[in-house]
Amino acid sequence: MYQLISCTLLVVFHISITEGNSLKYPHYDPYTLTELQCDQCPPGTFVRDDCTVEKRTECAPCPFNYFNSEWNSYKDCQYCSSVCKELQVAKQECSSTSNRMCECMDGFFLDVEFCSPHKECPPGYGVIQQGTPHSNTICGECTRGMFSNVTSSTAPCQIHTDCRNLGRKILHKGSATHDTVCKEESTTSCDIDVTLCEEALFRFPTPPENWIMTLIQRFSSTSVTSQQINKIQETYSAEEQPFYLFKLYKSQSKADDSFTPLIKDLKECERGVSNLLGPLNLTRKNVMKLMQSLPRKHVKQEDIEKTLKTCENPKLVVKLLNLWRIKNKGNTMEGLKQLKMGKLPKVLRRRMKKLGQYLTGDAMYSLYQKIILEINGNQTQPVKTEALL
Ligand SMILES: *[C@@H]1O[C@H](CO)[C@@H](O)[C@H](O)[C@H]1NC(C)=O
Ligand SMILES: *[C@@H]1O[C@H](CO)[C@@H](O)[C@H](O)[C@H]1NC(C)=O
Ligand SMILES: *[C@@H]1O[C@H](CO)[C@@H](O)[C@H](O)[C@H]1NC(C)=O
Repeated sequence: MYQLISCTLLVVFHISITEGNSLKYPHYDPYTLTELQCDQCPPGTFVRDDCTVEKRTECAPCPFNYFNSEWNSYKDCQYCSSVCKELQVAKQECSSTSNRMCECMDGFFLDVEFCSPHKECPPGYGVIQQGTPHSNTICGECTRGMFSNVTSSTAPCQIHTDCRNLGRKILHKGSATHDTVCKEESTTSCDIDVTLCEEALFRFPTPPENWIMTLIQRFSSTSVTSQQINKIQETYSAEEQPFYLFKLYKSQSKADDSFTPLIKDLKECERGVSNLLGPLNLTRKNVMKLMQSLPRKHVKQEDIEKTLKTCENPKLVVKLLNLWRIKNKGNTMEGLKQLKMGKLPKVLRRRMKKLGQYLTGDAMYSLYQKIILEINGNQTQPVKTEALL
């Protein structure tokens, strides 16, 4: 077949063979009738002429698209395989020393003779060993604490989200096919920081002098630490400090404390608020109207949406008022007074008006007297003022 190839391509090639090289082949020399040990030709070449007594083996380079990969005594080179098959790519092109090497494309492996796609592991199973051009994917069932929710030839099982690590509670426990879902922080409850009654109680119209100091002294005999008190003083305005102090105190007080009757009264007051708001079917639209009718800064839309999802009436209204107070560092009693009645949905008009009256009315005033007497050791008589009526 080499006759086809022009002689100019076959530039004769003398390879200097290192002395230690013992790669030889036997050749019977017809002139001397002896068997000679000829040098082999290196990879990329072939034997153009065997050696004689007088001269060494003549090697010539393989022509284009032919190769020899080893030291050899061949009289020609091997033809490189033509092109790669379907779904294959050339991993290595043809050279004088190597054949063209084909391999299945990414995502396929050689399955007997053809390239087949790598297997995908279904949900509940993950990839243990990724497929290669020569081997299929190996899937494994997700073990306890792991999941896979996808069909994939690359995704391993993943560890369930650790809610506790995120400081959250579990909403749905994970399975082999689903991740654990944690409760959203805000969905844990419709908890509010300070109730309407607590706020009302501690918004003294004319606080006794050194009121906060008195409160602190009164509470310092409890387990409330000065560090906690300092934190409250740093965080909240003087007007807000009393009810946060009280809240802190309440969270740490014991059952037989002298404030126990007051705490009971506050609970009673909160029940009153719930009753006032009553069974109430607020549409989303009405909730938006309520929020629009409150003065000053508006609560963020997303916070309203979250509250709508997590709170039910009557807590919904209380929570929304709470959000408004925090947003405005405001006074809910003032907020209720300044409600834009025209914007307020009808279903809420009477209720909100009553709520405002309740929180600044006689019942609250009695409570106020009680606490001021308790805290001030019966020395200061509170002055009933307009704001409370
Ligand atoms: C799979 O789970 C992750 C993590 O919980 C989630 O983000 C993703 O949307 C889920 N995908 C499907 C297809 O269910
Ligand atoms: C609230 O409204 C919904 C639909 O508007 C209705 O199905 C439901 O019975 C109502 N609940 C009350 C307590 O009125
Ligand atoms: C305040 O007076 C009431 C009765 O009027 C009494 O029960 C209470 O113990 C007194 N409080 C203090 C701190 O003296």
